[in-house]
Amino acid sequence: MEAQVRALLLLLVLTPSTAEKNLTGTVGGSITLPEPVLELGFIIYGTKTVAIVVDGKMKIVEKMYQNKLLWSDRTGCFTITDLQKNDSGIYAVDRKESGVSTAYKLSVFDSVSAPTVNRLGSDSCVLLCEVVNAEETTLLWYKDDEVVKQNSSAPSLSLTVHEQDYKSSYRCVAANPAENKSEPVNVEETCGPTYTGRKQEETEDRSRVIGIVVSIVSVVVIAIVGIMIKKRYHNQKPTAAQGPENSNRRPVH
Ligand SMILES: *[C@@H]1O[C@H](CO)[C@@H](O)[C@H](O)[C@H]1NC(C)=O
Ligand SMILES: *[C@@H]1O[C@H](CO)[C@@H](O)[C@H](O)[C@H]1NC(C)=O
Ligand SMILES: *[C@@H]1O[C@H](CO)[C@@H](O)[C@H](O)[C@H]1NC(C)=O
Ligand SMILES: *[C@@H]1O[C@H](CO)[C@@H](O)[C@H](O)[C@H]1NC(C)=O
Repeated sequence: MEAQVRALLLLLVLTPSTAEKNLTGTVGGSITLPEPVLELGFIIYGTKTVAIVVDGKMKIVEKMYQNKLLWSDRTGCFTITDLQKNDSGIYAVDRKESGVSTAYKLSVFDSVSAPTVNRLGSDSCVLLCEVVNAEETTLLWYKDDEVVKQNSSAPSLSLTVHEQDYKSSYRCVAANPAENKSEPVNVEETCGPTYTGRKQEETEDRSRVIGIVVSIVSVVVIAIVGIMIKKRYHNQKPTAAQGPENSNRRPVH
């Protein structure tokens, strides 16, 4: 008898800590509770019964779940759709068919907004990552897939990159427990003034060379054309003048 009571107490103590599983969702999205009910069972939100499954058919009890709760007769799983923040809370799936009850703690988060990255100033390479709606959002800076800086409560997070690291791959990630979005940064392009400077010089050099070549070619062409015109003019003049001479010469042939 005493042993039974002790076992019951132990069960009561253990139940809350082992049963609850965390689930996260995004506003507007949906979530499927993995515990299936195929023949007979309930889904409960807090203390309210939301729906019942009897003989392989679901009946919604709570009116507000009418267009919100789906149940698959194939898998036996419940899906809550069009999630809102007030859908957060404890859900329990009671399988009467097997006596199993599984509790889920659902937390619904706003969709994460994409972060933007800009360079601060022009002397050193300081990158500022910002997010519009920072509530419940953590900002993280990754260098080659490793977190180098993070802040869970700030709308912006700066990072200083040294020149020897310009070739590394950097990205800023905005994350909440439900999802995350990232923004890659090409540091060499954003912060490499020497690199862009050299590029520009090269381009300038090339256009200068092209300019010189074009000038030389123009001068040569003009010269050739000039010579040709002069030659023809020179040839024609004597022809006209020496006309009689030519006709005089004809008999020689
Ligand atoms: C569920 O989330 C809470 C914080 O909200 C955490 O303390 C707990 O360890 C999590 N449980 C599991 C099973 O991940
Ligand atoms: C939850 O929030 C949605 C929209 O924000 C609202 O339409 C709905 O009535 C709320 N439900 C409850 C139970 O407060
Ligand atoms: C995180 O951001 C908050 C708010 O801007 C600031 O007070 C705190 O010092 C920051 N923590 C770190 C580690 O940067
Ligand atoms: C971002 O989401 C992916 C899966 O969508 C996950 O594997 C990764 O751990 C998340 N990163 C952070 C920082 O939350």
